[in-house]
Amino acid sequence: MLFALILVAVQTRFHHQFNANRPRDKTFVYICLRNMQSILGTLILFLTLVVKGQSAGLNEEFTWSRINFQWSATLGATSRSANYYNKRPTDVIVFDGETNLPQKTQSRSPIDYQYENNIPMGANVWKDKLFITIPRRRLGVPSTLNYVSLSSDNRHNVPLIPYPNWNINLYPDTSGNLENFISIYRIAIDVCDRLWFVDTGIVETLGNRTTIKPHQLIIINLKNDEIIHRYNLPEDVLTPATVLASLTVDTPKGSCRDAYAYFPDLAGYGLIVYSLRENQSWRVNHNHFHLEPLAGEFTIANHTFQWNDGVFSVELTDIKPDGYRDMYFHSMAGTHMYKVSTRVLRNETLATRSYHEDDFIVIGNRGPGHQTSTADLHKPTDIMFLGLVNQNALGCWNVKKPLESISIVQQNNRTMIYPSDVKISQDRVYVLTNTMPGFLYGRLNYDETNFRVWSNDVRQAVKGTKCQNV
Ligand SMILES: *[C@@H]1O[C@H](CO)[C@@H](O)[C@H](O)[C@H]1NC(C)=O
Ligand SMILES: *[C@@H]1O[C@H](CO)[C@@H](O)[C@H](O)[C@H]1NC(C)=O
Ligand SMILES: *[C@@H]1O[C@H](CO)[C@@H](O)[C@H](O)[C@H]1NC(C)=O
Ligand SMILES: *[C@@H]1O[C@H](CO)[C@@H](O)[C@H](O)[C@H]1NC(C)=O
Ligand SMILES: *[C@@H]1O[C@H](CO)[C@@H](O)[C@H](O)[C@H]1NC(C)=O
Repeated sequence: MLFALILVAVQTRFHHQFNANRPRDKTFVYICLRNMQSILGTLILFLTLVVKGQSAGLNEEFTWSRINFQWSATLGATSRSANYYNKRPTDVIVFDGETNLPQKTQSRSPIDYQYENNIPMGANVWKDKLFITIPRRRLGVPSTLNYVSLSSDNRHNVPLIPYPNWNINLYPDTSGNLENFISIYRIAIDVCDRLWFVDTGIVETLGNRTTIKPHQLIIINLKNDEIIHRYNLPEDVLTPATVLASLTVDTPKGSCRDAYAYFPDLAGYGLIVYSLRENQSWRVNHNHFHLEPLAGEFTIANHTFQWNDGVFSVELTDIKPDGYRDMYFHSMAGTHMYKVSTRVLRNETLATRSYHEDDFIVIGNRGPGHQTSTADLHKPTDIMFLGLVNQNALGCWNVKKPLESISIVQQNNRTMIYPSDVKISQDRVYVLTNTMPGFLYGRLNYDETNFRVWSNDVRQAVKGTKCQNV
């Protein structure tokens, strides 16, 4: 955004008020020029410039110091009607209680809520819903899949609403059939208005991983909030180390049934491909899915540590003339960028052959400090957004340009610690920062803002960077 005001005023005193509280948002500049002794006499100039949404970078959309929930009056009342878990939330009461579960429900509710352990990990958007996921990596997470209304007037400490309802998010299981959601890291939303995610089925506490049920792919129809598909990932596509923390869905236009999903296995160092039509999955192995031993050092929020996460998220291009997309991928402990065609991945024979010849392409090295958590690609502009965890920044790369043109969209050592999720929805980019290393290696101050959702229009966000299309 560039605007220049040239004011020539001899013997004129002026004072201006510049509302810089939200410098990335609407900027109101009031310039009051007040004369005192000018040749032409008293002159009063009042200029108001309203610049709407013209700013580059990201805007803070929602912030939380600690996560709280919209508690329901009927919580813990176990209705056993056939599809109670598909009902919309009713009887919702908002409690102010920011310190612990409200007394009112404590006595008769089985819910364990410890706000310190509720670290949001994933974000995504469908229409007016901003979804927020909280994996059960400690005890005290009352609900793993939640949303808030994007149009909410309240923007700070907005209570999360369990989705599609409270009951199915409760742990221990209230369904009697292990149908409840146990632990969800990140979610995908496809062009057929479907929400896809993997429920890892694992409750983690410090040094204690308890498997409640198998890894399960679950698909929800967002138009009526109903669960439309469940698929247990079979043992032969998993390893003892498997961690499925993100997924990307590949839905051909006009053919919702022919969708594929790709699950990077960040600790098992592989990729799982799932075909919805065949209701089957297979595992792809390749060295490029592993960690890079010299790129595992991180210094974030004054904590230095070594991580060994391999392939962390995968990004799809638009459909190419051959009918397939390219899939970009990278390891978290790594700085290289790779790609492979979905023509290879979707064909089980090709995907699982022991030697891949030149199917997997090395694009290049992004350079030191460019370790990336999640990324996503805006298909109409070919702009990829990357969560640069080692720089507390969101980066961008126009995939039509050399990798060296990777740029910073927004960086802040205090407010952007750990971009945990990056998602494109329509023409907007959404980023969740969650200060996670501060939680893992220190202690968060729950009276300060720890969790933020940022966003902007894609083309606006990259203005002034090398990612811009000219
Ligand atoms: C591990 O966690 C599970 C579920 O939370 C619990 O039932 C079990 O007692 C824990 N085991 C240990 C050794 O703490
Ligand atoms: C898909 O496979 C799962 C196995 O996890 C099975 O339970 C389910 O019934 C299958 N769904 C369809 C539509 O075939
Ligand atoms: C890191 O340490 C510096 C120096 O003590 C301090 O100013 C800064 O606030 C710390 N950053 C965080 C994120 O805690
Ligand atoms: C999968 O790839 C193999 C080997 O190239 C090929 O023979 C086969 O026709 C392909 N299958 C499909 C469904 O395209
Ligand atoms: C952010 O922190 C890094 C590492 O401590 C430092 O090199 C960099 O200069 C900081 N950036 C800003 C804008 O303060």
